[in-house]
Amino acid sequence: MNIFVRSFGVGIHQTLLKLQPDYECTLESLVGLIETPPQQEMGDYAFPCFTLAKVFRKAPVQIADELILDLQANLSESSLFESFSSLGPYLNVKVNSSEMAKQVLPEIHKGNWFSKNSLEQKTQVMIEFSQPNTHKGFHVGHCRNVALGDSLVRLFRYNGYQVIAANYIGDVGTHIAKCLWFYQEKNNESPPCIHKGEWLGELYTASTLALEGLTGSEKEETQKKISALLAKLEEKEPQITQIWEETRNWSLEDFEQIYKWLGTEFDHVFYESEVDEEGKQLVIQGAEDGLFQKSDGAIGVDLNDKKLGFFLLLKSDGNTLYSTKDLALAKRKFEEFGIERSIYVVGAEQTLHFQQVFATLKKMGYEQASNCFHLPYALVVMPEGKMSSRAGNVILFSKLQREMCDFVRINYLESHRESWSDGEIESTTRKVAVAAIKYGMLNQDPNKQITFSLKDWLVSEGDTGVYLIYAYVRIQSIVRKFENFDPQAEIDFELLKHSHEKALIRKLFDFNDIVYQAAEQYRPSLLTRTLFELCKDFSRCYSSCSVKHAESTELKLARLNLFSAVAVTLLTGLNLLGIEPPERM
Ligand code: ARG
Repeated sequence: MNIFVRSFGVGIHQTLLKLQPDYECTLESLVGLIETPPQQEMGDYAFPCFTLAKVFRKAPVQIADELILDLQANLSESSLFESFSSLGPYLNVKVNSSEMAKQVLPEIHKGNWFSKNSLEQKTQVMIEFSQPNTHKGFHVGHCRNVALGDSLVRLFRYNGYQVIAANYIGDVGTHIAKCLWFYQEKNNESPPCIHKGEWLGELYTASTLALEGLTGSEKEETQKKISALLAKLEEKEPQITQIWEETRNWSLEDFEQIYKWLGTEFDHVFYESEVDEEGKQLVIQGAEDGLFQKSDGAIGVDLNDKKLGFFLLLKSDGNTLYSTKDLALAKRKFEEFGIERSIYVVGAEQTLHFQQVFATLKKMGYEQASNCFHLPYALVVMPEGKMSSRAGNVILFSKLQREMCDFVRINYLESHRESWSDGEIESTTRKVAVAAIKYGMLNQDPNKQITFSLKDWLVSEGDTGVYLIYAYVRIQSIVRKFENFDPQAEIDFELLKHSHEKALIRKLFDFNDIVYQAAEQYRPSLLTRTLFELCKDFSRCYSSCSVKHAESTELKLARLNLFSAVAVTLLTGLNLLGIEPPERM
């Protein structure tokens, strides 16, 4: 809680006690009600009087009117506030912006402001994200998970948690048998030199399409072949295992390239293949202990008491399921990594699966199961509808990357071709393209569907990643023009009186709270919105509060100090989204 909110709360508390001595309420409960008014002109903080109506037996509007004078008298000594007003049922207060500036600007320039959130936390958190399957194509939809997971890792770290960024790669299962069947029996091409994993994904797609096209005995035959291949894979028959290893590596190499390009790192990578056997043992043990039940030779767990049905854990032929492996995976997370809070970033279509997994873990006696959380997210669709391999509108990663980069080079960097090195052109291209993708994936709440549009995401005006990095580059270039500017030098905060300057100061002041909320609510979109508004506020402020034409040197320095703090904050915020802006564009 910040000092302004707290003091405002103290003022209200004293006022209430004076007017109604027998009224029982804690300072904390009052402070918890304080909000930010929708418009800056109304004030900086507002206290709603609705809850007081019962005690005072009056309408909230009337209460606000009656309280305002006393409140003003109570807080008149405080230099933190400028003015008070009652507005309908609200008590509003305007803070003294130079006081606010004094609190935040020097701290930003000293580098202390952005570590404020990390003071208390120590909890071990694992955030599992991305989790692609080998032998399948990595497409634009998968980028949403990467952007979301990666940003959450950064946000949680900022807030002081000990975070392990984890991946869990799907390298076993039916999809692999399907892909390898096609690879061995239908395919005549040899693999390309690059993007071999993507090529495998195309074989997998071709395989499912081919299967769908078959009927009758032919279909049966093929399905048998695929099952036999799967059995061989599960038995680890040497010849097919060798092919599995080779092709699996093609996918893994692709993934590595993708993460590198996106600037995403993992602290640990799990593979489904490594928890397979352990999962099986856990389930067999669970059945022996009477925890799980046998049904037609298969093993499952009865979760009807939780309204979650019967959850299958092992097939009747003894082969493992997706669920089998999730039990062993969770066990590892708890026991080997000492995880206290476990977050799974996985599509919303797996909601029931995770409810069942967590309920099963609970039954198995894992208390940590109550700190497991599935963060579901909605689909990425194309303007014409859902992506599907049959409709042929799946944008594979390499194509996405190529088209984005081409667009950036042609539309933004052409004019620099002569003067910049190839290296700078390339690295800037990547940064802009990544900013566009990540921002597009993050400026929507996880539960909302996203419509992917390369052109819309790459424009430099409006709510896009490109707009934000342009703003950053622009502020940097403004500040850079004043060579002798020293952000540590003393400034006169009283000079920052313009309402546009005040708006900026308030945004900087609120930054840490927003980052805290963005992590706790699993909504990086809270941060994208704040940064977008910060950039708009900056533009507005810069056009009315010039640095160059400032009335005095002192004012010029104060403005530069403010604007450079905006740049640092913007950079910090963008980094929390996994975006790295270039220094010039
Ligand atoms: N690889 C899986 C899929 O593509 C997602 C894995 C999610 N994580 C988990 N622990 N089950 O559907």
